[in-house]
Amino acid sequence: MSLKTLAITASLGALGLANPFPSPYAKNTTYYNPIIPGFHPDPSCIFVKEWDNTFFCASSSFIAFPGMPIHASKDLVNWKLVSHVQSRPSQFPGAGNITRAGGGWYAPTIRYHQGTFYVINVDVDAATGGSGIFTTKNPYDNDAWSDLLEVEIGGYDPDLFFDKSGTIYSQAAITILGDPFTTDIEQFTIDLPSGNSTPRHFLSNGTGVQPPEGPHMYYKDGYYWLLLAQGGTALDHQVTISRSKSPSGPWELDPSNPILTAINTTSLFQTVGHADLFQDAAGNWWGVALSTRSGPAYINWPMNRETVLYPVSWPTGQWPVLQPVRGKMSGPLPPRNINIPGTGPFVKDPDHYTFPPGSSLPRHFTYWRFPKTQNYFVSPAGHSNTLRLIPSNSNLTEFDTFDPRAGKTFIGRRQTDTLFTYTIDMSFTPQHSGEEAGATIYLRQERHAEIGVVNLNGTTHLRFRAEGPDAPATVTKPIPNSWCEGISFEIKAFNFTHYSLSAGARGGRLETFAQVNNSLLSLEFTGAFAGIYATTNGNGEGGSPAYFSNWVYQGQGQAIDDGQYYPSNKGPTV
Ligand SMILES: *[C@@H]1O[C@H](CO)[C@@H](O)[C@H](O)[C@H]1NC(C)=O
Ligand SMILES: *[C@@H]1O[C@H](CO)[C@@H](O)[C@H](O)[C@H]1NC(C)=O
Ligand SMILES: *[C@@H]1O[C@H](CO)[C@@H](O)[C@H](O)[C@H]1NC(C)=O
Ligand SMILES: *[C@@H]1O[C@H](CO)[C@@H](O)[C@H](O)[C@H]1NC(C)=O
Ligand SMILES: *[C@@H]1O[C@H](CO)[C@@H](O)[C@H](O)[C@H]1NC(C)=O
Ligand SMILES: *[C@@H]1O[C@H](CO)[C@@H](O)[C@H](O)[C@H]1NC(C)=O
Ligand SMILES: *[C@@H]1O[C@H](CO)[C@@H](O)[C@H](O)[C@H]1NC(C)=O
Ligand SMILES: *[C@@H]1O[C@H](CO)[C@@H](O)[C@H](O)[C@H]1NC(C)=O
Repeated sequence: MSLKTLAITASLGALGLANPFPSPYAKNTTYYNPIIPGFHPDPSCIFVKEWDNTFFCASSSFIAFPGMPIHASKDLVNWKLVSHVQSRPSQFPGAGNITRAGGGWYAPTIRYHQGTFYVINVDVDAATGGSGIFTTKNPYDNDAWSDLLEVEIGGYDPDLFFDKSGTIYSQAAITILGDPFTTDIEQFTIDLPSGNSTPRHFLSNGTGVQPPEGPHMYYKDGYYWLLLAQGGTALDHQVTISRSKSPSGPWELDPSNPILTAINTTSLFQTVGHADLFQDAAGNWWGVALSTRSGPAYINWPMNRETVLYPVSWPTGQWPVLQPVRGKMSGPLPPRNINIPGTGPFVKDPDHYTFPPGSSLPRHFTYWRFPKTQNYFVSPAGHSNTLRLIPSNSNLTEFDTFDPRAGKTFIGRRQTDTLFTYTIDMSFTPQHSGEEAGATIYLRQERHAEIGVVNLNGTTHLRFRAEGPDAPATVTKPIPNSWCEGISFEIKAFNFTHYSLSAGARGGRLETFAQVNNSLLSLEFTGAFAGIYATTNGNGEGGSPAYFSNWVYQGQGQAIDDGQYYPSNKGPTV
């Protein structure tokens, strides 16, 4: 307890006022949303007293790899990336076969029960299997996450609920009609450790608004509470709750439903939904949800769905009241504490990586599906302090014949700031026509923009290209071969709606090749990455290596309301 908190508690006592919050979090503090910025949708979070009073959150990764990031915090505002649930292809090899960017691991539920962390999920689009449970006894260690224990689920957004009776319930969204997209929430029980499950039965449609999804069950004050996402993940997204004396219903709906939504608001924070609720050490309730910083116009939102936090008031036996999501909020946060194990980084940290010999790639560096690991090498002989990429046959676009298992050479980090500058240096001498390497702002195979060096029929060019509807025209400019020794790239989100892509000889002035409207990268369900790539553009695997150095990502502002920003990396004001 800080001296300040002591003083406040003492003075409240002296005045004879009831302290509205149990010690030690009597003081409200300002914080900013999103708490986990960038592409981190469908958050599921828990508080684990036994792990030094730490909060853990899991979020969706779709086909980005490693999959299902786990973030940890002790104060709810400083979040460190501590592991990924899937970091080894062998945990579920079928994940590497998924083509569609809208498939993959989404909407995990994380729970802690008697010393074990459980993540239940469905790898959507997996040809066979791909639904079930991963466990760990150490959430700070990638290698401690188990292989997938297959559990028959039959839908998506699975929940996991350990009932006091010992029964393990799961509820999931089940698609019952494709067009119009229609679901219901169904329930089954799971036996552990076998993974055997009972047949599903109908559980709830929530308030009836389609599609009901993202169920989470809680037990409190003699009731089972069923929290749902409804209305779809876009502007109609909403959170509803119902309760029952039995985990299988029938359900009494909260008359205040939807209890959380941004529908009909002008807030920058739209699409609020897919919530999870948890308590801190002092007994305060909190909730997380996903939200898109798009405003109601819903045109420019390249970071897609991010994780937001709001205080919850949930008096005994009553319905919970969830505070509307805003950019600037206040609540009884735990005291600032950034003492989290692991190599990180914290989500608000900038990047400055020089790839020294013997170093490994930072935890938040991300591939698209499983990488061909030999195509990424830190500080190869004769090229200290570089990351060497070997070109893949596929370019960023992945044409029809693309085999997802072939891998494409791309590595990036999530865009986590409304405004940022990403810079990287490259040394690359493309020997063969078609070979290309450079920097990209990448949403998915159908949506990206890049600036690179490319060999076109024997001559070396700088080239800007973008893929997607209304993509700006390609710009190509021959460059002297001497530039190949040192080129610098810069990708900058210089305002709320536009990126600039620039390049030039290292140490010289960079020329802006194009400005890209970020609506190009605003599409469900993934978010933008800034990163690098190397390809032969369909001329076979391998070829001239590209050496990248001085990877810098610096946030320069977070939009928190229409036209209002707070500084990136400033962190919370705790
Ligand atoms: C991936 O797909 C290929 C081709 O359809 C198939 O041969 C292979 O067994 C699949 N691998 C997994 C792990 O599902
Ligand atoms: C739930 O909704 C689905 C789709 O609209 C419908 O087919 C089903 O009858 C509903 N179930 C109940 C019990 O209302
Ligand atoms: C949004 O506004 C419409 C039109 O006024 C209304 O019908 C609807 O109930 C509102 N939705 C919510 C969740 O407030
Ligand atoms: C602290 O914040 C909570 C949640 O926002 C609010 O309900 C409560 O009234 C605030 N308490 C004080 C003492 O300001
Ligand atoms: C190379 O030249 C050939 C013949 O002029 C042309 O068809 C082809 O498109 C050129 N390739 C590139 C990459 O410019
Ligand atoms: C961002 O800059 C572009 C190009 O200069 C401009 O067209 C656009 O209106 C600007 N957007 C905002 C939100 O100011
Ligand atoms: C950006 O793209 C959106 C969607 O196509 C469009 O409405 C908007 O006018 C564009 N902005 C600029 C400055 O071109
Ligand atoms: C990307 O690769 C495909 C073949 O895999 C090729 O048809 C296409 O032209 C390439 N794109 C560019 C810009 O070279």
